[in-house]
Amino acid sequence: MGGVQTPATLDFNEAEYQRINTWLRNRSGMIFLDNKKESLMLRMDKVRETYLLPDLNALATALEKGQNADLETAVIHAASTNHTYFFRELSVLNYFQASILPELPITNVRIWSAAASTGDEAYSIAMIAAQTRGLDWAKKQLAILGTDISELVIAHAEKGIYGGLHVDKTPPEYLDYGFDPVGMNQYRVKQQFQQMCTFRRLNLKNTPYPFKRPFHVVFCRNVLYYFDRAQQTEVIEAIYNVTEPGGWLITSVTMSLRGLQTRWQPVEVGVYRKPL
Ligand SMILES: C[S@@+](CC[C@H](N)C(=O)[O-])C[C@H]1O[C@@H](n2cnc3c(N)ncnc32)[C@H](O)[C@@H]1O
Repeated sequence: MGGVQTPATLDFNEAEYQRINTWLRNRSGMIFLDNKKESLMLRMDKVRETYLLPDLNALATALEKGQNADLETAVIHAASTNHTYFFRELSVLNYFQASILPELPITNVRIWSAAASTGDEAYSIAMIAAQTRGLDWAKKQLAILGTDISELVIAHAEKGIYGGLHVDKTPPEYLDYGFDPVGMNQYRVKQQFQQMCTFRRLNLKNTPYPFKRPFHVVFCRNVLYYFDRAQQTEVIEAIYNVTEPGGWLITSVTMSLRGLQTRWQPVEVGVYRKPL
C-alpha cells in the first residue's frame, strides 16, 4: 500500500543512535533517556538533511571525526531543548527579588545566567533588579553574563527580540517596563537592559570556569538534568568555585541537589547558598 508517510517516524538503527548519543554525552554531557530516542533521532535527521549526508551513520562518523565545527554546532543546537521564557518559575524569581537582592552589595553586582538559552532569564533578572533597586543603580552597578553551549541561542539573546511563548507569561507591568513593541506581537528588550547583559558561548562541562571575578548570584536552571550525577556534582562545584562567599545558586524548582556531594547549603526550594 502506498500509504501516507508520517513525518514523526523515522527508520534508524540502534548503532547509529548509540554513536550519536555517545558523542553528545562526551561533548556536552547531555543525556538522553531511551524514551526520548525517537524524538532525538528525528531532530538529528533534520541536521543530516541540511548537511546533505546520506544517512545517520554518516552523521555519526562526521561527528566522531570532529572536523566540521558547523555541523557539531547544529547537532548540539538540535539536541538541546532551548525552551525558555521570560519570568519562568516566578516563585524563585520572587525569592530572588524579596530575599536575595536586598543582601547584594551596592556596587559591582555580578550575576551569571549559566545555560541562558535565548537570554530570557538574564533579561528577566535585569528587569527585576532594575525595578527593585532603581534603573540608575542597575545601569551603573549591575552586570549579568548569560552563557550557553549553543551559538544560535546566544545570537538570538544578543538580538533581544521575542514573541509568542517567550513573552506570554510576562507580567503586563514588565511588558511595558522592559520592552519596546516591534512589529506583529514582537517585543524588543529595551536598550538599557541589553546593556546590562552580555552573552557568550560556554560549555558547562568544561571546568574549571574561566572567570576572573566571582559572581554574587548564579542561575543554573533547567540544564542540570542533561548531566549524569557525577557531572552535576562537577558543574555545581565548579560554580561554587566562581561564586563569592555568601553568594547564591539558583537551580530550577524541580532540580534538587539532594544526594550530591556538594558544599552548597540549601536555603529554599531551588535556592542554595555558599557560606560566608
Ligand atoms: C531548557 S534551556 C534552560 C534555559 C533557562 N536557564 C531556563 O531555565 O529557562 C537549557 C539550555 O541549556 C543549554 N545547554 C545544554 N547543555 C549545555 C552545556 N553542556 N553547557 C552549556 N549549556 C548547555 C541548552 O543549549 C539550552 O539552551
